[in-house]
Amino acid sequence: MQKLIIQGGQRLEGEIIIQGAKNSALPILAAALLCDGESILENCPELSDVYAACRILTSAGCQCQMKQHVVRVNAESLTNSEIPEQLMQEMRSSIIFLGAMLGKTGVCTLGYPGGCELGPRPIDLHLQALEKMGVRIREENGILHCSAPKGLHGTKIHLQFPSVGATENILLAAVLAEGETIIVNAAREPEITDLIHYLISCGAKITGIGCSTIRIQGVKKLYGCTYRIMPDRIVTATWLAAAAMTGGTLRLLHTDAGSLEGILDVLEQMHCSYYCDDTSIFISARSPVHAVRSLKTMPYPGFPTDAQAIFMAALCRAEGTSVFEETIFENRYRHVDALIRMGADIQIAGRAAVVHGVKQLHGAPVSATDLRGGAALLVAALGAQGETVLTEISHIDRGYDNPEKVLSAVGADIRRVSS
Ligand code: EPZ
Repeated sequence: MQKLIIQGGQRLEGEIIIQGAKNSALPILAAALLCDGESILENCPELSDVYAACRILTSAGCQCQMKQHVVRVNAESLTNSEIPEQLMQEMRSSIIFLGAMLGKTGVCTLGYPGGCELGPRPIDLHLQALEKMGVRIREENGILHCSAPKGLHGTKIHLQFPSVGATENILLAAVLAEGETIIVNAAREPEITDLIHYLISCGAKITGIGCSTIRIQGVKKLYGCTYRIMPDRIVTATWLAAAAMTGGTLRLLHTDAGSLEGILDVLEQMHCSYYCDDTSIFISARSPVHAVRSLKTMPYPGFPTDAQAIFMAALCRAEGTSVFEETIFENRYRHVDALIRMGADIQIAGRAAVVHGVKQLHGAPVSATDLRGGAALLVAALGAQGETVLTEISHIDRGYDNPEKVLSAVGADIRRVSS
């Protein structure tokens, strides 16, 4: 078991190169399964979730190697369309392999995905859409046996909610299907756009990039290509929040401010100064920051749910009161107890959380309960007085590539210890 020990109160200063996006790398790894020949995926973050996706590919018989942030995938040796239960449990994104596997082989056997720490995370929208495309689904003892005896065919799918995962699964199933698939009310997250760009580079025919209606014209074959994964916008948001928390000055490199509108808007309300160019963001923050009157999570381009906990941590010491409303997940305030333990003043009422800024947070022994909740505790610890011992950091390792190295390089006093 590993933990992070943080001596808070250091002002962050310097440059950080932003890692590749986990939530883009995962569906693109699944998409590589659809291609003939090799895909070379650059800028893949080295994370436990990415390793899990590689293990799913290997268990299917594909060749998959990761070296220095480059993953090479060759699916020509694919033999097995059953995803082992243990790998399904390891991460929620394992479900994205369903669309890819069906698109490639017409069959897939798998259990329900794990990673449900944010409240119920059903996959009904994924399954309904696939059924509409000709997939028969039989459930037996919690295992889904999916097959498309007559092949997958295009159709019009209207999503009740712009689910990221469902949009990805439909895209993956549709690119090799017969005819045209239209997704109405598709998710518009930048990671979806990245997946579409990769698929197009492999030969897919897709229009409506970045729009809520996407049209996919099925093609006979896709061919592997070399593709660079986009920068991680939530990791960018995390280090922006860390700068805000510590009154720091950071230059974030190899990122994309264009995918961070909702976040930058909130930073402005916090009275942080920032400047963006094509690939970098410079932030200079004065501590304490200003409170944000209302912060509501929304599908893209709104404020992302993945940054809610992280910005709550940064606003714990703000001047004034901030009100959060979480509209995407039912149970995404699990970090609040630990923040209160560190001295924060937060009240939860249903989907709302009211954060009264306090003068100071103090270090404490706290545990990460989920990925972004864990990142929030890290941000809080950086700005707290004294020592924080952060445990259950395997959650953080799912999404942050070597956070202690990144933060030490900009002045944080942080170390990882094994116990
Ligand atoms: C993706 O999860 C991300 N994961 C999440 O990031 C992110 O929080 C989420 O999108 C929202 O932006 C990856 O990309 C790997 P959804 P996903 O389907 O696809 C409901 C992180 O921290 N819903 O858009 O699972 C669902 O219950 C992770 O990196 C249904 O009801 O999100 C939820 O309330 C955590 N039925 C809402 O939609 C369905 O069939 C959003 O889910 C599917 C979803």
